[in-house]
Amino acid sequence: MAIVSSHNPDDSAKPKATKSKVAKSKPPAPPAEDAALQPLLSLVKGGDVQPEDIQAEPSEAAAPTAPEDSLRPQRLQDYIGQAALKEVLGIAIQAAQSRQEPLDHLLLYGPPGLGKTTMALILAEEMGVTCKITTAPALERPRDIAGLLVSLKPGDVLFIDEIHRLPRVTEEILYPAMEDSRLDITIGKGQSARTRSIPLCPFTLVGATTRVGALSSPLRDRFGLIQRLRFYEIEELTPIVLRTADVLKTPIEPAGATEIARRARGTPRIANRLLRRVRDYVEVKAAGAITATLAAEALELFNVDPCGLDWTDRRLLSVMIENFGGGPVGLDTMAASTGEDPQTIEEVYEPYLLQIGYLQRTPRGRMVTPAARRHLGYDEGLPGDGSQMTLL
Ligand code: ADE
Repeated sequence: MAIVSSHNPDDSAKPKATKSKVAKSKPPAPPAEDAALQPLLSLVKGGDVQPEDIQAEPSEAAAPTAPEDSLRPQRLQDYIGQAALKEVLGIAIQAAQSRQEPLDHLLLYGPPGLGKTTMALILAEEMGVTCKITTAPALERPRDIAGLLVSLKPGDVLFIDEIHRLPRVTEEILYPAMEDSRLDITIGKGQSARTRSIPLCPFTLVGATTRVGALSSPLRDRFGLIQRLRFYEIEELTPIVLRTADVLKTPIEPAGATEIARRARGTPRIANRLLRRVRDYVEVKAAGAITATLAAEALELFNVDPCGLDWTDRRLLSVMIENFGGGPVGLDTMAASTGEDPQTIEEVYEPYLLQIGYLQRTPRGRMVTPAARRHLGYDEGLPGDGSQMTLL
């Protein structure tokens, strides 16, 4: 069974979003309730869908609650940063609401921790519908995705994280579902095989990926909106840290928030994680609010430097400098030399190093830049202080 976390806007204690017409409009009878179709569902192409799989609401008990869930903004107006994305989505929401239609399918891509899941939850909240959250590796079998699709109500948001990892059979079930709100099933085998279609409620698929290039073009082409999330500026992360500190009831000075923001690699998830570490440090070592000095002290202790680089970033760069003359070095060679997984290097570490100009990708491999050498103190007399960093 797919791991699914279901977020219904009616569950929240805060003032409700104005319910959209999508949520209010009379839905067609949920297809899963059509008894005549139940036997057909067990024959979903390539899989062994059983009627009970289809009828059961995916298990919420299986859904882990991440600590960051309570820190997420719930409305578009509370979401800080990503101005261009907010504008595009604000228009899409308003247009869909006035046409009384679900939102178009949306593909969000960018490095981890920038707010893709948060944005999917906000879209559902704004549209007044439920958001079901799952991840591609949990959708191994056709029946996993089929069960989810038939459980969706009109206009619901289905969020699939790491969508580039969808198995091919699952992906193919999504095509007619996305295009025509249809679940295609095959009855029989070989020459006597026939295809039947089950109507689904119109829904919005929000796919998230760190590797948009790894999506097949048939899947990518079925998204009406394809949007990138960017790293955040320090000026955007500072209010995010202040907001999180407020939710956590942690006293903090604005300069303390900026110090955390500066070391958060342009990433809200990291900013919030660092804030928790600094909060621990200040509670144990000092009393009172988080100041810039205390934040810097705490983060040095946790090996996060003024530029946000951690032990692994510094090791990747120093291995390239010391063992390969600064590059060019291939990804697999870097992975073998550092003991890191190549995919983790590519998706987690490199994007930020590229963004701040410490790494370059060339056709012959990765190269360390002079700015990175200075930052790591390799060029005598110019010890790095991170002051040359920019996120622009
Ligand atoms: N918490 C995490 N990301 C956020 C964002 N973009 N805006 C406000 N709060 C956040």
